[in-house]
Amino acid sequence: MCGIVGATAERSVAGILLEGLRRLEYRGYDSAGMAVWDGAAINRLRRAGKVQALADALDSQPLEGSSGIAHTRWATHGKPLEHNAHPHMSGDKLAVVHNGIIENFEALKQELVDDGYLFTSETDTEVIAHLLDRSVKTGISLLEAVNSVVGFLEGAFALGVIHQERPGELYAARKGSPLVIGVGIGENFIASDQLALLPVTDRFMFLEEGDTALLTQENIQVWDRTGEIVERKVSRYEHGVSAADKGGFKHYMLKEIYEQPAATQAAFHDRIQDGLVNENVFGEQAAKIFDQVKQIQIIACGTSYHAGMIAKYWMEGLAGIPCHVEVASEYRYRPVVIQQGTLFISISQSGETADTLAALRDVQDQILASLTICNVPGSSLVRESDLHLMTNAGPEIGVASTKAFTTQLVALLLTTLVIGRRFSLTQEKEREIVNALQQLPSLIEQSIAMDAEIEEMSQAFAEKHHSLFLGRGTLYPVAMEGALKLKEISYIHAEAYPAGELKHGPLALVDKDMPVVTVAPRNDMLDKLKANLQEVSARGGELFVFAGCTQNLQSAEGVHVLGMPEIPEILEPIVYTVPLQLLSYHVAVLKGTDVDQPRNLAKSVTVE
Ligand code: AGP
Repeated sequence: MCGIVGATAERSVAGILLEGLRRLEYRGYDSAGMAVWDGAAINRLRRAGKVQALADALDSQPLEGSSGIAHTRWATHGKPLEHNAHPHMSGDKLAVVHNGIIENFEALKQELVDDGYLFTSETDTEVIAHLLDRSVKTGISLLEAVNSVVGFLEGAFALGVIHQERPGELYAARKGSPLVIGVGIGENFIASDQLALLPVTDRFMFLEEGDTALLTQENIQVWDRTGEIVERKVSRYEHGVSAADKGGFKHYMLKEIYEQPAATQAAFHDRIQDGLVNENVFGEQAAKIFDQVKQIQIIACGTSYHAGMIAKYWMEGLAGIPCHVEVASEYRYRPVVIQQGTLFISISQSGETADTLAALRDVQDQILASLTICNVPGSSLVRESDLHLMTNAGPEIGVASTKAFTTQLVALLLTTLVIGRRFSLTQEKEREIVNALQQLPSLIEQSIAMDAEIEEMSQAFAEKHHSLFLGRGTLYPVAMEGALKLKEISYIHAEAYPAGELKHGPLALVDKDMPVVTVAPRNDMLDKLKANLQEVSARGGELFVFAGCTQNLQSAEGVHVLGMPEIPEILEPIVYTVPLQLLSYHVAVLKGTDVDQPRNLAKSVTVE
């Protein structure tokens, strides 16, 4: 989704803004722009397409100046064309960048048109520029104008504003969309994501809902939603600047797949004490809250939803606690019955997904407590939940979630154990699972070692238009995740089914042009799955089966068995995910798609 960068400094800021935009490219966008105050006027440059198009334009028309704002736009209102790209201006004095959606923009626009304002774009953002201009013209300060205008805006937004007559000042506001202040020495910055500012600072201040801020080179002042001046904590970015680089890999996605042994280890390592999970890592109130839990409601989107589906098998199967899972965009818009003692678990890599956040906000006063499983410290979901468990995956840049998913699973397993010990999980079983977890990094490494074999296998997919993924039990959500990965980065239609559903419809699709990928468990479902595989084979479908060597599955004509290491059953969904990630990666590379920034998608879906 859209990205914001802003800077006020002694030095020229165009290079900082451009590098910031490059670092936000992973979020998904379709145009880019920049406005810089040059000491006398605000100059603006915008381009449809990639940030590189803006960079090329800047080569021939450099923007010089010590304060400015820049933006990558992911089109919502109006096509991805130059005149809709941000920054938007009111006259030549005031420039605005905006993330989010202004829901009441049509009414506001009509009012402004009636007042004589001319619109040059189809965006909702342009109303903000004109509203600010109109307020300033009444004689109030720009700060007062920002505070008053945000009060008119319905919907979600993060804003950056500069004005020709307020040299060196950078205004910011947030409600519903993330915005972070980068704290420098004699220079300060704003961005929608810390990663944009890592080359210039590692100190960050997270704005809270409803905050406005005024940044100059030397000062940062923040007001809360009631207009009170407030101090917001400054924290250091802990992963190091290089964590956000490709580190010699061709794509971020591949790097992130390869990081999974270390990332999953970081997700459990410091959380184990004397062979059991230390529940204090969930927060001070954790024990008190967990003691009162009667059921679990999990809410998430996309890949994070798949993690939730696996957690349901664990919560009910291991812990013996009722657990419901639903995609946030459905849950938030239907009447729901929330039973007493519900722990509401939101799962989100980014912590900013609009639907997940809205679902949490909607139920806050009806639930026992909320817990967020998240990868981004300081994100909205983390701040608004009673408890949180960070997944510790480090920055994930590829739009396709990989290490975020496997670390979410580790975090959810730890959650199952601490809740389960209050239900049907014995201490002996908990120790056994914690013990099994120690093998996880090495098992993932062994799956990654299958990379060359999977690369070869990917050739059977590159020319195909459809594919089927099958799994049973905890491996059914893994099949769903494999199908999602394949469709999002290779654009091949992929559907996932619980293998038992095959003959209830999808079997009609199976022929030689429909490769079928199966993740075969070692559990009591194996015999049933083998029968399903026969059904596919008999219809000429080409089968690719990931299975452990004790599963007694042999390659044959049209059946390719890829040998997985022996894996403790509890870890199967985590480890079996890895080869499916590699498969979609190699298919996408063969097809020449944009692996890290697939078309139409954004890393963090901060609007509905
Ligand atoms: C999957 O590869 C996608 N990136 C997407 O489905 C993602 O999981 C979803 O948008 C939810 O994002 P979140 O985890 O940041 O909330």
